[in-house]
Amino acid sequence: MTVENSAQFVKVCELTEIPADGALGVEVGDTPVALVRSGDDVYAVNDICSHAEVSLSEGEVYDGTIECWLHGSCFDLRSGKPTNPPATQPIATYKIKVEDGDVYVSLDSGADD
Ligand code: FES
Repeated sequence: MTVENSAQFVKVCELTEIPADGALGVEVGDTPVALVRSGDDVYAVNDICSHAEVSLSEGEVYDGTIECWLHGSCFDLRSGKPTNPPATQPIATYKIKVEDGDVYVSLDSGADD
C-alpha cells in the first residue's frame, strides 16, 4: 500500500498579520520562514538569503519576488530562484495554505522545479 505524503501543516499566524505586498518573518520549529503576500497570493520561503545571513522578510516585495535588502538579489516566490546577482543559489520554498483567515505552513516539501 502506498501512503500518500501527508504534509504536516503548522499554524503560524493569521493572514492579517502579513502586510499586503510585504512579508512577515516567523520560526517554524528551528527554521526561519518568510511569509509573503504578493497581490492575492501568499507564499512561504526560507527567510535567509542564499548569498549571506540576511533576513529576506525585511526586504521589499514586488512582481512575485522578494528582494534582499543587502545586495539587491530578488528571489522568485514560486521557485525560490534568484532572478539577479549576486545570489546564485535558490532559497527553499514551502507549502502554505490559508483556512478561515489562519495561515498554515508545511516544511515537508522542498523547492520543486
Ligand atoms: S545577502 Fe542577499 S544578496 Fe547579498
